[in-house]
Amino acid sequence: MNHVSDNLTLHNGVKIPGLGFGVWQISPLHTAKCVRTAIKAGYRNIDTAEGYMNEKGVGEGVRQAMEEYGLKREEIFVSTKLWNSHRGYDKAMKAFEVSLKKLGLEYLDLYLIHWPAVSRWHDDWREINRSTWRAFEELYRDGRIKAIGVSNFLAHHVQALTEDSDIKPMVNQIEYHVGFGQVKSAEYCQANGIVVEAWSPLGSGGVLRNGELNRIAGKYGKSAAQICIRWLLQKNIVPLPKSTHEKYIMENADVFDFSISEEDMTAIDRIPYCGGMMFDPDSARS
Ligand code: A2P
Repeated sequence: MNHVSDNLTLHNGVKIPGLGFGVWQISPLHTAKCVRTAIKAGYRNIDTAEGYMNEKGVGEGVRQAMEEYGLKREEIFVSTKLWNSHRGYDKAMKAFEVSLKKLGLEYLDLYLIHWPAVSRWHDDWREINRSTWRAFEELYRDGRIKAIGVSNFLAHHVQALTEDSDIKPMVNQIEYHVGFGQVKSAEYCQANGIVVEAWSPLGSGGVLRNGELNRIAGKYGKSAAQICIRWLLQKNIVPLPKSTHEKYIMENADVFDFSISEEDMTAIDRIPYCGGMMFDPDSARS
């Protein structure tokens, strides 16, 4: 059993495995098995969310894999996210305890605000995000969470939160895939020492049919999915591919024996939208 990726270091010194396993859209019934399969394949970073309804399965899968493969808790990085209905200090504090209990863990490696409160829907969006973040800071200072961050924050949301708080987020997890690179958000975060993670790194599977992507994949003797993942790794973005099939779970981790040339990286950058959600956090109802 190999570790499939190198670590990146968050701005508080905590290491995060550079490739993760995403469980969005995996049914609660199948989650434990998929997580166990991913850990067997070498993934050491498992990403879930309160809103995915499968935290219990993630916890079960992690515990089963630890026992089966003789791993210690500190060898597996587990993240979850606070759902929108639990924003604000008091609700966030309670929601954290519920998530941790569902996961059956003593501590969390990373806790993220799933979506920002935004001005379109909340006049006091800044105050809401600040108040939620205050709970995150407290839980972090108390050692209940190793690192704290945000998800789906555009650059201006990150900037506002940073101005309003003591601790800068360590991670921003955003939709980022071929045909929909949120370059502005990613560059802003990376320039400010915030690690970027990519949800839907395969555009929910949609981008894998793109002709140009497949042409490039053929050159390297790799699959379109492997090119999508490698393209993100070379941008220092942590991809979180999801799959329910062992074959794909293994294939998506087999991306460390080649590199994409500068020329092909640019060609992939230029592929137009070809799949994925393409959510705009500033207008998505949240
Ligand atoms: P499945 O779950 O049936 O195995 P994303 O990570 O962007 O959300 O994409 C996930 C989608 O891509 C799922 O539908 C998943 O299918 C599919 N998928 C994941 N890995 C591969 C792969 N290597 N080849 C083809 N499809 C894949």
